[in-house]
Amino acid sequence: MAKINENYSKLPGSYLFAEIARRVAAFSAENPDVKLIKLGIGDVTWPLAPAVIEAMHKAVDEMGRKETFRGYGPEQGYDFLRNAIVAHDFKARGAEITADEIFVSDGAKSDCGNIGDIFSADNVVAVCDPVYPVYVDTNAMAGRAGEYLSELEKWSNIYYMPTTSENSFVPELPKTHVDLIYLCFPNNPTGTTLTKDQLRQWVDYANEHDAVILFDAAYEAFITEDDVPHTIYEIPGAETCAIEFHSFSKTAGFTGNRCAYTVVPKALIRQGQSLNGMWNRRHTTKFNGVPYVVQRGAEAVYSEEGMQQVRQTIAFYQENARVIREGLKEAGLEVYGGVNSPYIWFKTPTDSWSFFDRLLKEAHVVTTPGAGFGPSGEGYIRVTAFGDAEDTKEAVRRILDLLK
Ligand SMILES: Cc1ncc(COP(=O)(O)O)c(C=O)c1O
Repeated sequence: MAKINENYSKLPGSYLFAEIARRVAAFSAENPDVKLIKLGIGDVTWPLAPAVIEAMHKAVDEMGRKETFRGYGPEQGYDFLRNAIVAHDFKARGAEITADEIFVSDGAKSDCGNIGDIFSADNVVAVCDPVYPVYVDTNAMAGRAGEYLSELEKWSNIYYMPTTSENSFVPELPKTHVDLIYLCFPNNPTGTTLTKDQLRQWVDYANEHDAVILFDAAYEAFITEDDVPHTIYEIPGAETCAIEFHSFSKTAGFTGNRCAYTVVPKALIRQGQSLNGMWNRRHTTKFNGVPYVVQRGAEAVYSEEGMQQVRQTIAFYQENARVIREGLKEAGLEVYGGVNSPYIWFKTPTDSWSFFDRLLKEAHVVTTPGAGFGPSGEGYIRVTAFGDAEDTKEAVRRILDLLK
């Protein structure tokens, strides 16, 4: 008899977005004429940059001619893209990363989940709380999380690091032993960041304890402040303790196009094994490369026009973030994030689901209750800056009216 992976039966339902959708659908069914403004989604809304489209069209034409047609490409990504990534995302920032340390993939989500393949099931995993749920659920699927304790909304073997206003959203170094540490900065959902000095403490800790940091830099393109690292490899010593995930999703609107990359430095060795070699083995066995056309599109993000166009789109989202941040502050709310991030995180006067309902029913604005990202997210709500500019302003006006 085929036996199933029983860890799947321990997973709680994917509650958050399903529950939001249910409440929104119920409200809309009762109030069909109300125009809801959705500031809950973490998806981009602006189309791809013209430079990206042009490069992709050209690549499609190449695929249509016998002389330039391409079949399977290198699983790790074409050199043209890996070299562009190295030059712009690392060398330009003083980080010594080489092309053979870059693994192009179809998404930071899949890589954050799949990276567990190269680690033993008995590692202790540490996550921030609130957290991007993928880190927790994928470790639960791999049998690394223990048992789900529903009354605590926590897993027995996961080490949770609260990141709340009480510690200025800077997680404390673990008090007991941990092996794998997920850090996501700029953070989803809180929109907050670590300074270089704060991140240095984590790098030093990981090197001292032989831990590995899994650093998710999916939102680095939104960084505006100088002291916030764009990559963990700006911190000396990170190459011996950190794997980093990047994505073109939020940087360049690739959420529907699918292109990302993971950095596994060759200096990263555990138990005498090169993690770069192990990830290479895993990637080449289980993955067959991102489409050539998509990789040409990603390469164009680094062209002069591409960079300029992508920066304009990010600036548009950043302006939305400013409108939300300042508007919510004016409404008397305690507001975080939104400076180096498309996410704004604010404290709710009541519990987060009740306030979500109030915003939905009275302001007709859809948000995301913080409690859905982990127990320490209770008492907060996440708002995103990916919406339309006029809708964003209107949503802020409605919230201001509600809280007057
Ligand atoms: C923290 C974080 N990492 C990764 C991702 C997913 O990135 P990708 O689209 O490359 O899979 C998201 C998407 O929302 C995210 O919030």
